[in-house]
Amino acid sequence: MADNACLYGQGSMMTLDANILFSSFRLGDLELKNRIVMAPLTRNRATKGSDAPNDLNAEYYRQRASAGLIISEASQISQQGQGYAWTPGIYSEAQIAGWQKVTKAVHEGGGKIFIQLWHVGRISHVSLQPNGAAPVSSSPIRAKTQTFIETGFVDVSEPHALTIDEIAGVVRDYAAAAENAKRAGFDGVEIHAANGYLIDQFLKDGVNKRTDIYGGSIENRVRFALEVTDAILRIWDRSRVGIRISPVSPFNDASDRDPAKIFFHLAEALSARGLAYMHVIEGATGGARDHAPFDYQALRKIFSGAYMANNGYTRELAIAALAEKRADLVAFGKSFISNPDLVERLRRDAPLNPFDQTTFYGGDAKGYTDYPSLAGAAL
Ligand code: PHB
Repeated sequence: MADNACLYGQGSMMTLDANILFSSFRLGDLELKNRIVMAPLTRNRATKGSDAPNDLNAEYYRQRASAGLIISEASQISQQGQGYAWTPGIYSEAQIAGWQKVTKAVHEGGGKIFIQLWHVGRISHVSLQPNGAAPVSSSPIRAKTQTFIETGFVDVSEPHALTIDEIAGVVRDYAAAAENAKRAGFDGVEIHAANGYLIDQFLKDGVNKRTDIYGGSIENRVRFALEVTDAILRIWDRSRVGIRISPVSPFNDASDRDPAKIFFHLAEALSARGLAYMHVIEGATGGARDHAPFDYQALRKIFSGAYMANNGYTRELAIAALAEKRADLVAFGKSFISNPDLVERLRRDAPLNPFDQTTFYGGDAKGYTDYPSLAGAAL
């Protein structure tokens, strides 16, 4: 029963109490039953044609309802916001109805779920866009990366730089999606401002070359993120809104010369707005945690809400981060794919199922709802 993790440092050994991982956490007016968050995970299994969530998706989320909080897979706020085949949307009636099945399943399982609102910006392909149009971004620069469409991997298309009027339209799309998320029964929303997607394309100066009020100074580069946030805060109480950022991640060809400057400024502005949490990808997305220097604890101090840490956390790292008060919540990604009962496994310090990378994106129940629980069967 003594679940302990050991930390070795400076010749002494500190024993940390694992129970902290399973202690409840008050997130605004929500009581989370533990500190373990299921990270947003793209799985490309929405219904073909409508991009609406379906019964299989509901089953997948239901299996993982023991997480303290589930963040849904990234969900496009509009067709223009889509960058990959078969990712779910939150802009049509069919999609709202599909998400209702998901939120009902999670709530029946005793869980809580936020939806991650997503606009991919330039990480898209003309074949995914309305009327085959160019994807949009802060600046007309093609990202050096690929996406996948129904026929396989392709280079992303060259984007068109959003005009000021078009930016206002995208902000309205976020607001409409946030309204839809309420109707779909979500407990809250997470603004996806990470990983080189549209909001990050405005934040980072390696992508944003604008010379108008949305580019140049840090105040200008955070403007779009804050307009989106403010539009959402008119619909959702601030205690139900979080944001995800990836200050130093090079994912999707995004970079900034001085990430501390822009992300500290953003954190201060979000703190003033009382956002519930900041979800931080520490290091390179899905890669090295020490990819580039960044003072995450300084970021944490600037922000008054909860700090949700993510990227490569193991049981031991998570316990240490919580015990040393470097994080309030820890989000686990890949291990939640292959372990529907991850919480129970972490509680017992039981072995984890390995994940099968070939079934991450697209497909059916295989590698999705068929991972066994400790009891032996799929949950
Ligand atoms: C992906 O589809 O590969 C993906 C989506 C959202 C992310 C990261 C990766 O934040």
